[in-house]
Amino acid sequence: MNRRILAALGAAALALSMAACSGEGAGSGTDTAAQAPSELKIGVSMPTQTSERWIADGNSVKEKLEAKGYKVDLQYANDDIPTQSQQVDQMITQGANVLIIAAIDGTALSSQLQAAADKKIPVISYDRLIRDSKNVDFYVSFDNYKVGVAQATALLVGLGVLNKDGSPGTAKGPFNIELFAGSLDDNNAHFFFDGAMDTLKPQIDNGTLVVKSKQTAIEQAATLRWQQETAQKRMEDLLTSSYNDGAKVAGVLSPYDGLSRGIITALQNAGYSGKMPVVTGQDAEIASVKLINDGVQSSTIFKDTRLLADQAVKAAEAFLKKQTPEANDTKTYDNGVKVVPSYLLPVETVYKDDIQKSLIDSGYWTADEVKAGQAK
Ligand code: GAL
Repeated sequence: MNRRILAALGAAALALSMAACSGEGAGSGTDTAAQAPSELKIGVSMPTQTSERWIADGNSVKEKLEAKGYKVDLQYANDDIPTQSQQVDQMITQGANVLIIAAIDGTALSSQLQAAADKKIPVISYDRLIRDSKNVDFYVSFDNYKVGVAQATALLVGLGVLNKDGSPGTAKGPFNIELFAGSLDDNNAHFFFDGAMDTLKPQIDNGTLVVKSKQTAIEQAATLRWQQETAQKRMEDLLTSSYNDGAKVAGVLSPYDGLSRGIITALQNAGYSGKMPVVTGQDAEIASVKLINDGVQSSTIFKDTRLLADQAVKAAEAFLKKQTPEANDTKTYDNGVKVVPSYLLPVETVYKDDIQKSLIDSGYWTADEVKAGQAK
């Protein structure tokens, strides 16, 4: 070996040992309970910035952690799985002490999670359960089955089959409806659809509701990556294939506001106007809250992302202090390998009449934002 190579090797070894001394890659193998928040870093991995809900989630978690003095590395993965894997890898090598992850594909992060486990970095699954890995330490979310029940109930209320208080309404149908589901690689999509179908099935069986396309399986109703355009295209196809005989759509089960907007666009392009079919939603995204206020979309499910961020921060802090975060559900969320202890938050259905109280009075959106359909 000549001298130049030896010198280069020596420099590389020195750089490596310096990196080790500076704590790079130290993770939570170090005693984080003895460290000040300013010495600790939390990696926050969010799926996408195309939906304002995830922007709000990311901002809330970051602000709340920073207010407690922690360092935060917040990354968005542009709904691209390799990007998210790479971002999480980087958080680990750059010395994150806890990871908070909302996965794009709940099964795609196994090797990153193993790397985190090897460094004793606790992993909190944020809103979407990470599946098929033992290296998930905690789950914060909403009661996702109840979200599905609430969406189906809102569809029935919108159609007049039920009253808001749950008592039978006067409308008897038959009503033509269509069903949409979320992305199959997101564990939540299954909970939403199961909750909704358990609620709608009796009404389908007794003929009050008719799924005219006959597409009642989640695989048929699914929308890859929760994309608005994909939902719009499917609704257009449904209108062409199943409603070319003059029949009208009375309602659409939609599990997420972004999809609802795509569905509404397809309906409007096909000539629906005035009293629109009943379209449900989720997330109280501002563009959809405006549509609800304007009487175009029927309802949404409000999940207060500020409260979810609070729970994520509490769980992260507990792990850093070497404590066990408080769970309120230790049975429901089996990720295929283990039941992940969870903290689940309640959800609220929002119709036009509820916007003031649930969304404006609570400070989630301002009256101006609702009017404009845009976040300030
Ligand atoms: C789900 C989440 C929903 C919605 C959807 C699309 O995982 O629970 O609230 O945001 O993703 O982003």
